[in-house]
Amino acid sequence: MGGTGRVMGMSFLFLALIGLIGRVCCQSNGDDSSAKVFDDNFQIMWAQDHFRTSENGHVWHLVLDQNSGSGFKSKYKYRFGWFSMKLKLVPGDSAGVVTAYYMSSNTDMNRDELDFEFLGNRSGEPYALQTNIYAKGLGGREQRHILWFDPTTQFHTYSILWNSRQIVFFVDQVPVRVHRHTEATSDVFPKEQGMYMFSSIWNADNWATRGGLEKTNWAAAPFVSSYKKFHDLGCKWEDDNTTLCANNNNASASHWWDEAVAWTLTKKQREYYRWVNSKYLIYDYCHDQSRYSIKPVECSVAPWD
Ligand SMILES: *[C@@H]1O[C@H](CO)[C@@H](O)[C@H](O)[C@H]1NC(C)=O
Ligand SMILES: *[C@@H]1O[C@H](CO)[C@@H](O)[C@H](O)[C@H]1NC(C)=O
Ligand SMILES: *[C@@H]1O[C@H](CO)[C@@H](O)[C@H](O)[C@H]1NC(C)=O
Repeated sequence: MGGTGRVMGMSFLFLALIGLIGRVCCQSNGDDSSAKVFDDNFQIMWAQDHFRTSENGHVWHLVLDQNSGSGFKSKYKYRFGWFSMKLKLVPGDSAGVVTAYYMSSNTDMNRDELDFEFLGNRSGEPYALQTNIYAKGLGGREQRHILWFDPTTQFHTYSILWNSRQIVFFVDQVPVRVHRHTEATSDVFPKEQGMYMFSSIWNADNWATRGGLEKTNWAAAPFVSSYKKFHDLGCKWEDDNTTLCANNNNASASHWWDEAVAWTLTKKQREYYRWVNSKYLIYDYCHDQSRYSIKPVECSVAPWD
């Protein structure tokens, strides 16, 4: 999926963090005062006419029809942080349609990338969430979960925690995936490059739904994904200056996302993780021997100690 066409909760990030992020994410149900204006943070990558906002500017829509999809990209690069957004996905007959929400270094040769990809489905059939991780240009680390709710009727929060010890993908408060930085995984853990945030919608009926068997039903177009409440609580990485985003570079700034409290899952999060992965995981590259006769190194690392 990496190539073609794609230029391509609040977490109970623990009680200790609730003071910090709770303010931003949890308490603001129905209150859009903390919403960020699109233009302050993002730019459209292609097809401006397939991008819309609500009247107050707080909800953004990407549109896919037979002519084009669309996508946006953050103006800033980040290195480590907590990145979160509420999404409502294309309803109804959305097979073949992929909405992606991801972070990427956007570099050609040694791309680092963290992907959320929502794979549409026929009416009444469940969406799948595919996550993937690229490190130094190498991806192929797909996992798929069936979502345990209908992601098309309400906004849900999708977040990435990225720090020097772990990368965690969250769906609402549930950590669905953990990619850890240990001695063994140092080469496959993205950490040296800053990443932009992206989102896009496109037609991927050559692979997305039931392996490409289900084709996009253009009679159901336009397909619209909606976004709101973007939060970037992280280090903006300017001029690729590595010292700027080093932890404790600035003692007066709190880098809670890269401190002990965020280096491993909490007890509650571990429960959620076990729950989602025992019930909703439908594909894991770690167990795909037809692709990997030798288990990738990160597959032998436990999600916590
Ligand atoms: C779509 O629905 C089918 C049938 O329920 C399911 O097997 C599949 O995992 C769903 N998602 C995708 C992306 O194919
Ligand atoms: C990087 O940032 C640090 C801290 O602000 C500064 O002291 C240093 O000169 C910068 N280095 C470069 C190459 O810009
Ligand atoms: C350190 O952090 C504080 C608080 O976030 C900020 O106001 C200040 O500009 C930062 N200083 C440097 C050198 O980055």
